[in-house]
Amino acid sequence: MTTAPMPEFPAGFRWGASTSAYQIEGATTADGRGPSIWDTFAHTPGRIADGSTGDEACDHYHRYAEDVALLAGLEVSAYRFSIAWPRIQPTGAGPANPAGLDFYERLVDDLLGHGVDPVATLFHWDLPQALEDAGGWLDRDTAHRFAEYADLVAARLGDRVKLWITLNEPFIHMSLGHGMGMHAPGRMLLFDAFPVAHHQLLGHGLAVAALRARGSGPVAIANNYSPVRLAGDSDADRAAGAAYDALHNRLFTDPLLGRGYPELPGLDTAAVRDGDLDVIAAPLDVLGVNYYNPTGVRAAEEGSPLPFEMVPLAGYPRTAFDWPVVPDGLRDLLLQLHDRYGDALPPIQVTESGCAYDDEPDTDGRVHDPERIAYLDGHIRAVRAAMAEGVEVTGYFVWSLLDNWEWAEGFTKRFGLVHVDYATQRRTPKSSYAWFRDRVIRR
Ligand code: FCB
Repeated sequence: MTTAPMPEFPAGFRWGASTSAYQIEGATTADGRGPSIWDTFAHTPGRIADGSTGDEACDHYHRYAEDVALLAGLEVSAYRFSIAWPRIQPTGAGPANPAGLDFYERLVDDLLGHGVDPVATLFHWDLPQALEDAGGWLDRDTAHRFAEYADLVAARLGDRVKLWITLNEPFIHMSLGHGMGMHAPGRMLLFDAFPVAHHQLLGHGLAVAALRARGSGPVAIANNYSPVRLAGDSDADRAAGAAYDALHNRLFTDPLLGRGYPELPGLDTAAVRDGDLDVIAAPLDVLGVNYYNPTGVRAAEEGSPLPFEMVPLAGYPRTAFDWPVVPDGLRDLLLQLHDRYGDALPPIQVTESGCAYDDEPDTDGRVHDPERIAYLDGHIRAVRAAMAEGVEVTGYFVWSLLDNWEWAEGFTKRFGLVHVDYATQRRTPKSSYAWFRDRVIRR
């Protein structure tokens, strides 16, 4: 890590921290909340590394005021959280549950009272179980249900949320949730999961229209991106790299930015109907970029069900998730988006960037996380470098404010600027929290 001061960012650049509902809220049966696919999945033996569930998580539902105070102390200008659809519509349809809306209204008003912009994600993977039982995102109707839900939320909060994010990482929800069965709802459809991509995108487009009709503020989507690093230089390796890139980086972004679906071996677009692509390409105010690491790719073995093979990237430091630490990958990615989409690319906000380490308090009770500081330092400089090369980036959010329930990894991966002792729910800001405030936000 360099000791040079952090370069200047433009005035008004949005510094933030991110979380999601199921990972922090707990209180999964409080005030009329219905079950989501993650409740079902987490309660299925063998699905979660440590056998835990999100039943309590960080108990944020009851402790949100303490967490807003942590955000205020961090001096971020924005907080990205997600709204749990099953709190608003316990079965994914019908009128809003007022108690669910009340919770997010209290949160939003508390944020505004502390000068923190609320940035709300409408879908961070916690689909109401009743919708899953009716076919979930494999069913076109779920897209329409999503737009109705967006309308209910916008009717209450549209005047106060400063940036709406329709979907979080539809690629990960499709691939891990429906392609490989590692996330809820646990389906293993490989390429037959494509309708899940299309229906999420259609739901996004319909939700954008619903938000606009309510006169709500700016709208974004948060995609996961992973630039390809080829692990060979044969024509077959290059073709495999292009196929992986089309699947991970273009399948969602090409249609969002008006290009239609990319060519991809094995992709059956039978779910696409006339007019859908126009709905999906509704103008966006911001493109949310979630970045963790690049992906090493080479040609697949003969007979593989996939047109590529993923290989570990050697020669980099690794996080506790065993993800390689490659700050340049973020710069490369931002430049690639800029080159690929040109004028069609809206301003970017990095809506997730962060790392897991096995952070625990020292004997003095403090939590020192120099690896996280180095990680964030490198990635923030990478953003600044891409900006110097002409990419318009207007925000950067750390994943995550708090250590939290990391999906299939349960409580075993700590991503927070703030340590959480899950037995006592005690919050302890790590050294990266003060570093982010003092060296990045305040300067
Ligand atoms: C992203 C998710 C987020 C968190 C981080 C580590 O894919 O959007 O909820 O799990 O990874």
